[in-house]
Amino acid sequence: MAKDATSPAKKIWVLHGPNLNLLGSREPGIYGTESLKHINQRLVGAASDAGAEVQCYQSNHEGELVDKIQAAGREKVDFIVVNPAAYTHTSVAIRDAFAAVKIPFIEVHLSNIHAREPFRQRSFLSDIAVGTICGLGSRGYDLALAYALLRGQE
Ligand code: DQA
Repeated sequence: MAKDATSPAKKIWVLHGPNLNLLGSREPGIYGTESLKHINQRLVGAASDAGAEVQCYQSNHEGELVDKIQAAGREKVDFIVVNPAAYTHTSVAIRDAFAAVKIPFIEVHLSNIHAREPFRQRSFLSDIAVGTICGLGSRGYDLALAYALLRGQE
């Protein structure tokens, strides 16, 4: 259904997993030189230009990410963009949280996980995601957000 003037602002959350707080200085040849703060500012700006609300959150702790996904369910978040980082490859708990809240989400990775070590080529989330974006650096977040903003307006 198309959004009209009376619809509430679309709520989108962007969740970042462990070590992404170090973006900018962490293995820049793989993850780029842009800081997480800068990426988040760009996403918040793009969403506000589109009349939507974006909140960004980072945690190094699996349980905190699970709590946040559950909170998104209670707060009726419309869409989640998530880079689960290393938990992509290990976390049944994060998968179960997404399955429980049933909020549509896109899984984003800065690097092309399919071109890296074999243990990174398995994701516990991809098959329940709306889609995945990887290998496009921080622009993957912008593309995921663009989709989230358009979704439901077609
Ligand atoms: C990552 C890829 C993961 O394998 C890794 O553990 C990360 C970042 C990415 O964005 O490319 O921390 O999710």
